[in-house]
Amino acid sequence: MTPAKRPSRRDRIRAQLADLKLPGALEALDPILSSVDGGRFTAAEAIEKLLAAQIDLRNNRRLQAAMRASRLPAVKTLADFDFSFQPSIKREQIDSLHELSFLDRKENVVFLGPPGVGKTHLAISLAVATAERGRRIYYGALADLITSLEEAQAAGRLQQRLKVLTHPALLIVDEIGYVPISRTGATLFFQLVNRRYETGSTILTSNQSFEEWGRIFGDEVMATALIDRLLHHCHIVNIRGNSYRMRQHADVFNTLRNNPSTTEAETSP
Ligand SMILES: Nc1ncnc2c1ncn2[C@@H]1O[C@H](COP(=O)(O)OP(=O)(O)O)[C@@H](O)[C@H]1O
Ligand SMILES: [Mg+2]
Repeated sequence: MTPAKRPSRRDRIRAQLADLKLPGALEALDPILSSVDGGRFTAAEAIEKLLAAQIDLRNNRRLQAAMRASRLPAVKTLADFDFSFQPSIKREQIDSLHELSFLDRKENVVFLGPPGVGKTHLAISLAVATAERGRRIYYGALADLITSLEEAQAAGRLQQRLKVLTHPALLIVDEIGYVPISRTGATLFFQLVNRRYETGSTILTSNQSFEEWGRIFGDEVMATALIDRLLHHCHIVNIRGNSYRMRQHADVFNTLRNNPSTTEAETSP
């Protein structure tokens, strides 16, 4: 009678995981133990998988919290990136950036290339990896970051705003070059880059080469000073290739071409 009433080892482990507040491991326990019973996992593998389940859950929670705070527009990961579509990218360079030692060295990363080649995707996947490590990130398109600085300045809160944008271990400045920047905007952005210089990493993306940045920022001298600071400790990823978005359009186009009846139905009013 008594043995049936005593909690099983499995129940005791469950209680321990609950006591330690490890819900990820708790949820993974049963399938892992079944795999051990079935001879598919060794004891060491089972422990590894149990801990990994908890770490996954923790990383996921960190990411959710970071997503809310950082204004990341989407979650993109390295695993989702199709390197075969973009042969100009050196995979080793991107893999090595995802080890994130550039963050500790306060180095910057610049993704350059035409629209749709994956600049934002790779910038976000680095941000996601950073957030999963529990480090703070912040995302903004250049025009939005500048608007927020201008509004802060108008409200007499520029220093606080600069502080907020200097604090994260990683700042993403997306879409440099799509919208021209006013001279005041450029000066404010320059202040931000100056603040972050050698104190935190920044990832920038642009569809324009550095030679064009003078035009974008409306001032060659300031653009040169900006580039000088940004490039001092910097990894440059120059992507030359076709737009991934257009690839999808090409698929649709081919489907339509191979089914002329659909084409007619689609095009006739
Ligand atoms: N090589 C790729 N593999 C998978 N998805 C990609 C790839 N390149 C781009 N994409 C996807 O295509 C879309 C456009 O890419 P994005 O990174 O926004 O381009 P860019 O910032 O260079 O204009 C996004 O949804 C992105 O996730
Ligand atoms: Mg982009």
